[in-house]
Amino acid sequence: IEFSSRRPYTTIEINRAFYFNTPCSDRQKGNTQDMLRRVVRQSKFRHVFGQAVRNDQCYDDIRVSRVTWDSSFCAVNPKFVAIIIEASGGGAFFVLPLQKTGRIDKAYPTVCGHTAPVLDIDWCPHNDLIIASGSEDCTVMVWQIPENGLETSLSEPVVVLEGHSKRVGIVSWHPTARNVLLSAGCDNQIIIWNVGTGEAMINLEDMHPDVIFSVSWSRNGSLLCTACKDKKVRVIDPRKKKIVAEKDKAHEGARPMRAIFLADGNIFTTGFSRMSERQLALWKSDNMDEPICVQEMDSSNGVLLPFYDPDTNIVYLCGKGDSSIRYFEITDEAPFVHYLNTFSTKEPQRGMGYMPKRGLDVNKCEIARFYKLHERKCEPIIMTVPRKSDLFQDDLYPDTAGPDPALEADEWFNGKNGGPILISLKDGYVSTKNRDLKVVKTNVLETKPATKAENISTKMEDKLEEVLREFKSLRDRVILQDRRIARLEEQVAKVAM
Ligand SMILES: *[C@@H]1O[C@H](CO)[C@@H](O)[C@H](O)[C@H]1NC(C)=O
Ligand SMILES: *[C@@H]1O[C@H](CO)[C@@H](O)[C@H](O)[C@H]1NC(C)=O
Repeated sequence: IEFSSRRPYTTIEINRAFYFNTPCSDRQKGNTQDMLRRVVRQSKFRHVFGQAVRNDQCYDDIRVSRVTWDSSFCAVNPKFVAIIIEASGGGAFFVLPLQKTGRIDKAYPTVCGHTAPVLDIDWCPHNDLIIASGSEDCTVMVWQIPENGLETSLSEPVVVLEGHSKRVGIVSWHPTARNVLLSAGCDNQIIIWNVGTGEAMINLEDMHPDVIFSVSWSRNGSLLCTACKDKKVRVIDPRKKKIVAEKDKAHEGARPMRAIFLADGNIFTTGFSRMSERQLALWKSDNMDEPICVQEMDSSNGVLLPFYDPDTNIVYLCGKGDSSIRYFEITDEAPFVHYLNTFSTKEPQRGMGYMPKRGLDVNKCEIARFYKLHERKCEPIIMTVPRKSDLFQDDLYPDTAGPDPALEADEWFNGKNGGPILISLKDGYVSTKNRDLKVVKTNVLETKPATKAENISTKMEDKLEEVLREFKSLRDRVILQDRRIARLEEQVAKVAM
């Protein structure tokens, strides 16, 4: 059910005390007028509009997963769109090259190594061919996709990460450190992996007494914020295994919350009020006692998935089961979260993918692209700032996070931080160099200390080369011996005659 288009914006609250002391009807009347005044404010994003692509540019005949879990079911990068699908007797997702639009054949290859449904997928921000998946089979898998997409189904991951005792609902790559991956499971644990060695480096247990709804890295990946079924939002220093701030009942309703870090270190949350109205809120991450602001939206019941652009400070809210995307600009002036507009279509969304900034068409003033999952198709939606010029609009495109990592995994685990390495979008999308993901198999790690893993890997390669050389020389010798025997047999035969 979708109420959002009728009441896109009802109340605005900056002060929580005021909020609870004012009768509901007054709150709505006074603030709607207030809001109308405030909405008319200078912003280059005021006229951003959304547009679905033509039918022939959609991905059709896709049986989108029906599993009951509120993840986005879709992950996009400048090369591929990945979609979690229905699969009998296991878990699978599609990885489609972006240009592979139209009808997707029933026999199209899938990524199909999990033995139970896939719940979440995430593209590596530092390699457009690497994707991670979390599944009901309690494992995390990391996959390497061939440059031009799959020609046959892929059932062998590069690495399997085993450590959760229940289903894994969230996977999320570190934004700036290479090969660092986080997973959260229904065992209420967060594990941070060094994917290069296949090792669980940090295990955050006993922090969450209930299911973790969302986990978000801060801009430089030094902190995490989580939303949990116990209604708390927590800010966590993962390397110190410490909760640095938390808020009980960030939203009072029982339905799922979401919490994400913004670029300035503040935290944006969505959730439900005691009266089951959908809300958004903004918090300081070092002291969460009082919100910077709380706003009520509507009384739909879909979880609001936030997608955030740190360059423009725009948050896009996509309710699961809604048929709209609502977007807001966040500034440091009251009311802090400024409603911009709503993009609506008729069809409800089952999930949503969000393209990284480096995958956008800057010549068309495209500032966001979504991949909306319907029941049986995926429909790209393009958000554009209406401008006529053909020149690069540098005010719309501040330098953005590029594909190169700022740190190696070891550096991050040893306490170093680094913000994203920025690139200009002036020359359009900058492609990642093709780096193969090197994984040291876990059986090696079981017998050797982990810190030496890199050297073990080179040692193993050396060893392998040595064995291969020996094998080749043995084979050559066998061939030579064969010939010699053949010659001798010939001679024996001649002598015998
Ligand atoms: C990383 O971010 C934290 C806060 O989120 C900040 O205190 C710290 O200075 C940052 N470090 C670097 C190296 O960017
Ligand atoms: C790996 O070996 C090189 C020399 O071969 C050494 O300089 C380096 O510190 C070693 N790295 C680790 C992680 O042990």
